[in-house]
Amino acid sequence: MERALALAERGRGRTSPNPMVGCVVVRDGKIVGEGFHERAGEPHAEVNALRHAGDVSSATIYVTLEPCAHHGKTPPCVDMLAERKPRRVVAAMQDPNPKVSGQGFAALRAAGIEVEIGLLEEEARQLNEAFIKHVSTGLPFVIAKCAMSLDGKIATRTGDSKWVTGEAARLFVHRLRNEMDAILVGSRTVMLDDPSLTTRLPEGESRDPIRVILDADEYLLSDRRVFHLESAAPTWVAVPEGKSADGADQLIEVPRGAGGLDLWALMRELGRRDITTVLIEGGGTTHASAFEAGIVDKIMFFIAPKIVGGREAVTAVEGRGIEFMSEAIRLRDMKITPIGVDYLIEAYVDKG
Ligand SMILES: NC(=O)c1ccc[n+]([C@@H]2O[C@H](COP(=O)([O-])OP(=O)(O)OC[C@H]3O[C@@H](n4cnc5c(N)ncnc54)[C@H](OP(=O)(O)O)[C@@H]3O)[C@@H](O)[C@H]2O)c1
Repeated sequence: MERALALAERGRGRTSPNPMVGCVVVRDGKIVGEGFHERAGEPHAEVNALRHAGDVSSATIYVTLEPCAHHGKTPPCVDMLAERKPRRVVAAMQDPNPKVSGQGFAALRAAGIEVEIGLLEEEARQLNEAFIKHVSTGLPFVIAKCAMSLDGKIATRTGDSKWVTGEAARLFVHRLRNEMDAILVGSRTVMLDDPSLTTRLPEGESRDPIRVILDADEYLLSDRRVFHLESAAPTWVAVPEGKSADGADQLIEVPRGAGGLDLWALMRELGRRDITTVLIEGGGTTHASAFEAGIVDKIMFFIAPKIVGGREAVTAVEGRGIEFMSEAIRLRDMKITPIGVDYLIEAYVDKG
């Protein structure tokens, strides 16, 4: 199952809105087939793993997610398994899709295949945390990311922010963008920094996330870089009803809300469009309203060994803030990793 999870991981950023899935076929103690779901719309992990596995009647199949029992873009995997009839299927977890849950296992058992569930389930859930959230709530999994100085500034008082962190951290962010469906920023970041928000990797193929910009009051100008890119991904601008944004590939009309636009409504709409992951890249005002709206699942804050200072310099989370410490947003499972000269702090927002 460890091998199956590692294979599944290779599909990261390419399978959305589907899960990442890996599969290994073992016969007489030897791996005789393996595969993973490489891209949405392409064959499932089980099909790839069984392709060259030969006779599997005495084999055990390890798969990171319950085999599908429904017709999607490809035929149900349980039909193929029922036909090939392995001795045993070991799955890490049940498919959280309420329309599927348990039916795949039932079909396998009905075909006389032994089924075991729950091996490395925790790891499998972690791997597909975004898919699980999207399929069970309709909302994308949201990461708030920023680069700040040790004193919490994401730019200087003049708005200069190039660069807060070193090269290794910036490369890390491009790898992260490569895995995300959408990237979200506020209008001020676009106006001040004029970023392109694309994925630029030194090695091979990269994929740009869809760019989503918040613009509540027609502040954006169409001469900004995000509107003139050679990118396979479009630039969407979220606006209140009746407002427009020249240069946008598409407008998303969202009701007004605290801080500008109602970010819950925006997430619901992005989820409906099969966006399963959103990376919020600031600035501080956007982060503040994302936390206030309760849409953030995880934080990834890079901390640079620098002190910037300045009352007017933008901090990672602006807005009004809370009155009492007891109201603070709590984080859990905090992890700290050195990345070049900087540190990456990752944690989950405690919603309990
Ligand atoms: N180091 C980093 O990681 C990093 C990353 C990004 C940005 N930055 C820096 O951050 C600074 C900009 O940050 P900022 O806080 O001034 O602005 P921001 O968050 O980039 O943009 C805020 C603007 O977005 C619009 N908006 C619409 N709906 C919103 C909502 N629900 N919540 C929040 N904003 C909404 C509002 O403008 P309208 O009312 O006009 O629509 C608002 O003023 C820049 O200096 C940039 O260099 C640093």
